[in-house]
Amino acid sequence: MSRTTWKSKFGFLMAAAGSAIGLGNIVFFPANAYRFGAGAFYLPYLIALILLGLPIIIMELGIGRVFRKGFPSSMNEVAGFKGEMTGWFAILNSSVITMYYITILGWVLGMLIRSFSSLWTQVAVPEFGIEAGTASIGISHFFSIISSPGTVALVFVVWVLNIFCILKGTKTIEKIVKVLVPSMWVFMIIMIVRGLTLPGGFEGMLLLFTPDMSILSSLEVWKGAFSQIFFTLSLGFGIMTTYASYLPKKSDIVNDGLSVTFMNCTFEMIAGIAIFTLLFAFSISPKASTLGMMFFVMPEGIAQFPGVTVQLFGILFFTLLLSAGLTSSMSLLETVASAVIDKFAISRKKALGIIFGVGLSGSIMFSLPFVVDPELNASGTLGLTLLDFFDHWAFGYGLLLTGLVQTILISWIFGAERMRSVLNEYSKWKIGKWFVPLVKFVIPAIITVLLVSGIVGEFSGLYGHSSTGNIDNLHIFALIAWILFTVGGSFILAKMKERRQA
Ligand code: PHE
Repeated sequence: MSRTTWKSKFGFLMAAAGSAIGLGNIVFFPANAYRFGAGAFYLPYLIALILLGLPIIIMELGIGRVFRKGFPSSMNEVAGFKGEMTGWFAILNSSVITMYYITILGWVLGMLIRSFSSLWTQVAVPEFGIEAGTASIGISHFFSIISSPGTVALVFVVWVLNIFCILKGTKTIEKIVKVLVPSMWVFMIIMIVRGLTLPGGFEGMLLLFTPDMSILSSLEVWKGAFSQIFFTLSLGFGIMTTYASYLPKKSDIVNDGLSVTFMNCTFEMIAGIAIFTLLFAFSISPKASTLGMMFFVMPEGIAQFPGVTVQLFGILFFTLLLSAGLTSSMSLLETVASAVIDKFAISRKKALGIIFGVGLSGSIMFSLPFVVDPELNASGTLGLTLLDFFDHWAFGYGLLLTGLVQTILISWIFGAERMRSVLNEYSKWKIGKWFVPLVKFVIPAIITVLLVSGIVGEFSGLYGHSSTGNIDNLHIFALIAWILFTVGGSFILAKMKERRQA
């Protein structure tokens, strides 16, 4: 069966950039930058980008272009069973991330709908003891959305939108990203112009660029920067391999990798500036939590705009989040679809049906509106609490683990030198010999240090999420469920026999 390909280079670039540009760029980056010392975050970020981000994105694109298969099947070509298991681990781990990513998009949709009307006046949420006039508008609406059963309907709608986007694979994806990705830039430019022209906005931008070197000695900051690079470039998800597998055989992937990275990181900087200017102008300090950034802090800033511009910018901001999120989540669903289709030779319709069923159930789990912590010491609802715990493992460990094993398999089993010649085959800009020690030693060493330090931190209780016994049990449940789903699931899937396509 011949594989579909992108109609145009532009379509592919928009799709890959659309995957990379997501909530990570608009909210996680500014929130991380603020938490890790604003200006100084740039340094670890840039180092992470050069040492890890660029080489890994180019390798992921490389194996897709050469083997022209979904991620697990491509990894099978790289390193047999071990490779395929790594591939399925990546798919399953990132499915968990996508399930809650889509739940978050459901909440974004809820905020978008409300921003047409009621969002700008504060509501009471008796479940959490929030009375009218006691909390900020963002906080009150967010908790009112996540604790209402209607949240499940929102999540359902976002799932349907996603499936619609990948219905015909590259054909539908290309059509949608060609519109959404350029519009995201336009939205962002409007936000930045508004931010910079507000009194005090310029100082906000300066804050983002004022280095505080003292934080560079903290391992947490480096871990934050490396994880941010992984997430923002959509690495460790198998996405870049999948998208590159739909490229013509003679594509210059070194150039493609550089272009996608450039677009993503520029967008991230612009988003950082836009958000810092807005917040600084209204003297709001962005709290560390990323959910807090998009649901509490930004609405609070926007609500202080004059007159109708409140609604206008509110709608703009949540539409931007939804578009950015959608072009990311669909890239992952396409990755899962291609993995299943390539291994089991089933029809796209059937694959999408299975993905919809399993994925929607997961997203519903993360949106369960039952109140477990009315005092709001932790996350409030059952869904959000589970989301926190699964995120801790899937995002904090899963992506890095995939990155580590995949780099080791490619550089040691497939061969770093061989990879280099694959990458250089059709590229204008040739990758030098430095690539070999980088992927064989430096990258695995860095990721190992990050992972080990994280695990040591677990025991010393850095992740101090404990409150009541029941919530601790939930945390243990999340860990066990995550291991069974990813490690157990990938073992079974990799063991299953590949069905040849007719
Ligand atoms: N790169 C995306 C972002 O920055 C992350 C992502 C990709 C999440 C695909 C889910 C699925 O938001």
